[in-house]
Amino acid sequence: MTEPVTLADHERLAQERMDAGAWAYLFGGAADEITLRDNCTAWQRLQLRPRVMRPLSGGHTRRTLLGRELAHPLLVAPMAYQRLAYPQGERASALAAAVMGLGYVLSTQASVPLEEVARLAQGEAARGPLWFQLYLQPDRGLTRSLVARAEAAGYEALVLTVDAPVQGSRDQERRTGFQLPPGVAAVNLPDGVAMAAGGPGLCGGLAEHAPTWEDLAWLRSVTRLPILLKGITHPDDAHLAVEHGASGVIVSNHGGRTLDTLPATAALLPEVVAAVAGRVPVLVDGGVRRGTDVLKALALGASAVLVGRPVLHGLANAGATGVAQVLRLICDELEIAMALCGCRTLEDLGPALLQPRP
Ligand SMILES: Cc1cc2nc3c(=O)[nH]c(=O)nc-3n(C[C@H](O)[C@H](O)[C@H](O)COP(=O)(O)O)c2cc1C
Repeated sequence: MTEPVTLADHERLAQERMDAGAWAYLFGGAADEITLRDNCTAWQRLQLRPRVMRPLSGGHTRRTLLGRELAHPLLVAPMAYQRLAYPQGERASALAAAVMGLGYVLSTQASVPLEEVARLAQGEAARGPLWFQLYLQPDRGLTRSLVARAEAAGYEALVLTVDAPVQGSRDQERRTGFQLPPGVAAVNLPDGVAMAAGGPGLCGGLAEHAPTWEDLAWLRSVTRLPILLKGITHPDDAHLAVEHGASGVIVSNHGGRTLDTLPATAALLPEVVAAVAGRVPVLVDGGVRRGTDVLKALALGASAVLVGRPVLHGLANAGATGVAQVLRLICDELEIAMALCGCRTLEDLGPALLQPRP
């Protein structure tokens, strides 16, 4: 293939390069992958109603989020074990996001030390916000030490993931018999392993450690960082999140990797935005593959969008350069879409720009 010009080109190229097991782990979804597919098609099904003859001079796509400015309303979603895609793993993706002035969220299950990633990102003057994604650990002492390390390293917010107390049924992955290869591990956790099953209760005891609202209260008591909840899909939970002091919510179905047949995030977003009613920022991820998808998410009321798999496609293809290419493509497409919709800044985006496909 010649130089990739779309995110879909990057995906095809990445698939050619990777072995079947790593591909299944990184890019597969849960069960029949209905949510995985719906996430993408739901953005496509929204049609745009542009306006013309509007002044566009001085336009930009900057956005301020929790007091920090992003060059574009985009963050890299937290994704585990990125050294499966490229030897430098999270070092490369974090560097690319920082150079582009975008946000970056490092996974608890990152395959590179969290301090190293922070140092690399902090070396870029134009970098956007740097956040740490937290999976609560069964042991509060361990959770606390992870939080303390993230704070000391300069992470600016915690993203508490609440939709994956147990792993979804990832059939593709099981069929390939995927195992992490030697040298790729969750290096920020003791012994490099995510929580292991092996006790009484649902899912070999893993469900015993599912996060609760009491855990959020505890977490708030041990950190000065703002906490966003990732994996909010129900408006009542969005309301509870704000009531319990969350500084933001991320509408996410984990990219279709946990519970299959959840609605697409494009369909869930408006209800959550309505429930939150502007009290905290609402972010969204899942299936964002075009600049027009980003524009639609913002028109539905999201403050910013997280991008997952396409970043790993770029990473597999060409490391930090590949990630920067992917992010550049989405940002360029967003700017084109804004200009063609008659929108000068992100403040001009609203539901009037959208209609469902008949
Ligand atoms: C390989 C992979 C690993 C992931 N690991 C995590 C993780 O460690 N923590 C988390 O909160 N979400 C994780 N996610 C979910 C993403 O943060 C995000 O919600 C999802 O990928 C967005 O959908 P998209 O891939 O269609 O953009 C992972 C996703 C993928 C593809």
